[in-house]
Amino acid sequence: MRALTTVPLQPDTLDVVDVPDPTPRDGDLLVDAIAVGVCGTDKEIARGEYGWAPPGHDRLVLGHESLGRVREAPDGSGFATGDLVAGVVRRPDPEPCGACARGEFDMCRNGKYTERGIKQIDGYASEQWTVEAAYAVKLDDRLSDVGMLMEPTSVVAKAWEQVDRVGGRAWFEPERVLVTGAGPIGLLAALVGAQRGLDVHVLDRVRGGPKPALVHGLGATYHHADPESVLDRVRPDVVIEATGVPAVLLAAVGGTAAYGITVLTGVSSAGHRVTVDGGDLNREIVLENDAVVGSVNANLRHFEQAADVLAAADVGWLGRLVSRRVPLADFADAFEPREDDVKVVLTFDR
Ligand code: BGC
Repeated sequence: MRALTTVPLQPDTLDVVDVPDPTPRDGDLLVDAIAVGVCGTDKEIARGEYGWAPPGHDRLVLGHESLGRVREAPDGSGFATGDLVAGVVRRPDPEPCGACARGEFDMCRNGKYTERGIKQIDGYASEQWTVEAAYAVKLDDRLSDVGMLMEPTSVVAKAWEQVDRVGGRAWFEPERVLVTGAGPIGLLAALVGAQRGLDVHVLDRVRGGPKPALVHGLGATYHHADPESVLDRVRPDVVIEATGVPAVLLAAVGGTAAYGITVLTGVSSAGHRVTVDGGDLNREIVLENDAVVGSVNANLRHFEQAADVLAAADVGWLGRLVSRRVPLADFADAFEPREDDVKVVLTFDR
């Protein structure tokens, strides 16, 4: 079968190659791929900047934003042939650390976790794949065109859970959320904010393209002015930061309402220095009991929450998040950014 693979840390090695058909182990589902989403991490791996092949292999099968249909399911697994499913990305470290031992592998403490399509386990960008039933999540059948949004939605579900848990330190009834960045993560974070009945604001650089209408489609407000002035006007109780741009995230941390919570989800590269008034920033955080929390990845619970978020969403709106559907054979197109791209996906039509 065909799979999208690369040699990690070697640029220009991204290619569709033939790999052996997967053989389900005890308790595994065998799944026919429908699509995989392409995200910033995939592009980083393709550029040779990140990623680890499975031990003893040169190439890594990419793909962690999965969607497929079950071909074979073991009896008693809770899955049946024809079910729409997505696979969880991370697996616990082998020791395991205290968090991994409790199913909270998204909070792994020793960094020895593995991730499908990223770190030491082949991903889901192959015509067929297997997944342990315990690491698969069933999707509402209406999501057969958009269910590859499950993984980014799980990341967002975790970020919102962090808001709830950090907010739970004291009385907490947030009204306004500012999402910085209107990429897939930002827009899905805004979707959750809207589902929670909050006054949702989204900030991005662009004036045109599909983003303003996607934000308005949620009943939310779109901003493209400088971050400081937007924060001044909105004074959000919660910020979900999805740009990873240092100047934006520092403005957000300093610009929340009292008891503000900023969740950082954007992965940035090192080497972007900015000048900040550290004294003023510290004063703001301390005198307002503000909190800043980093959030990455998602465990099974967050995938289940994501399935509920997508099931409750307008499928037409989710479909508008998918800018391009690129057949596997044309994979290079999917990795080439185009103006107005929100989410690009690879498809596995047979
Ligand atoms: C994925 C996460 C993963 C992270 C770091 C992100 O693109 O969505 O699941 O933990 O990359 O590898």
